[in-house]
Amino acid sequence: MVKKKVLVTGGAGFIGGNYVQYMVNKYPDYDIYNLDLLTYAGDLTKHRDIETNENYYFVKEDIIDRESIMSLFENEKFDYVVHFAAESHVDRSITDPGIFVQTNIMGTQVLLDASKQIGVSKFVHVSTDEVYGELDFNPKTFFTEETPLQPNSPYSASKASSDLLVRSYHETYDLPINITRCSNNYGPYHFPEKLIPLTISRVLNEEKVPVYGDGKNIRDWLHVNDHCAAIDLVLHEGVNGEVYNVGGHNERTNLEVVKTIVNTLNKSADLIEFVSDRLGHDKRYAIDPTKLEQLGWKPKYTFETGIAHTIQWYLDNKNWWEQIITGEYQSYFEKQYSF
Ligand code: NAD
Ligand code: DAU
Repeated sequence: MVKKKVLVTGGAGFIGGNYVQYMVNKYPDYDIYNLDLLTYAGDLTKHRDIETNENYYFVKEDIIDRESIMSLFENEKFDYVVHFAAESHVDRSITDPGIFVQTNIMGTQVLLDASKQIGVSKFVHVSTDEVYGELDFNPKTFFTEETPLQPNSPYSASKASSDLLVRSYHETYDLPINITRCSNNYGPYHFPEKLIPLTISRVLNEEKVPVYGDGKNIRDWLHVNDHCAAIDLVLHEGVNGEVYNVGGHNERTNLEVVKTIVNTLNKSADLIEFVSDRLGHDKRYAIDPTKLEQLGWKPKYTFETGIAHTIQWYLDNKNWWEQIITGEYQSYFEKQYSF
């Protein structure tokens, strides 16, 4: 039997990294190719346990490099592409939007052209609920797949643009695609610039935790393993051309999230520091996942079980995040925050 070849872009990052491990372990009869540029957000130490597996391959490449991507696709003839590679941090997009346009829009177009050229069986584009903009605080309003795209940050605008490109390659060239739009992920290997790992790492070091504005903005949190299972399902069962929202109804204010972490670690709430708000800070995100549930997906984690698991993981894996929060990360942190 000929093995299926799956190209995972951004597989050295947070979600792509968890997804690569999930796929390598679940499908020994698939060859999993992890393509990543290894930007500040990518690292391969997370793959020590799988790097010698026969079904795992790593390719260091920039998705913007059209010539190299085209020849890689011609040589390898991938069956499936699961596209995570992106600039992913909203705050960085506010300070420096250009690279978001390059990677998230131009890079996606290169991958679409290469996928079309060799005729892949499925291109799954991993997008975000942020493309829908923001919701008000009415707990009965949710993002559905029909919600109009109204992105507010340069990050979400670049993701929305890439979603539209992916859609257009389906409509124009009949490229078999799915788009997934997931809520906020958390879990192992989450880069400590994002709220949850930033809070855990700083609380463990008895350092102040910056909360933007009044801390009342709401996010809908999903454990990364549940996101990986959702993408697996969409890759194999997703109806060609369809969009699927991913989320588990775990809405929390930012202050609730930070307080949960502080309390779990038995530290003082004095560590919480309210700082200037993020520009254009979206009030609330909340996903209606009915369409994906009808396809057969159900999350395994509640926020309570997921955050407990995640805090324990950061306690057990200090060596991973401690080597990140030095050097380049320190200068980023000092520029971003005033303490
Ligand atoms: P991340 O920043 O942790 O990882 C991104 C990865 O992409 C890194 O390994 C980086 O090296 C790689 N990369 C960046 N530019 C590249 C390029 N030009 N060529 C090749 N590789 C490149 O991101 P994440 O949080 O894991 O998010 C992954 C994807 O999921 C993104 O597309 C993001 O928009 C989407 N998403 C994220 C969340 C979330 O909560 N983090 C939620 C929904 C959707
Ligand atoms: O909704 C999905 C999105 O979730 C993904 O598409 C993005 O890639 C991912 O980064 C995430 O975006 P957010 O902006 O929601 O995540 P972040 O962790 O940066 O912030 C979560 C909330 O916490 C947000 O309301 C801003 C707030 N926050 C964040 C940081 C970094 C703070 O209050 N203080 C902080 O220092």
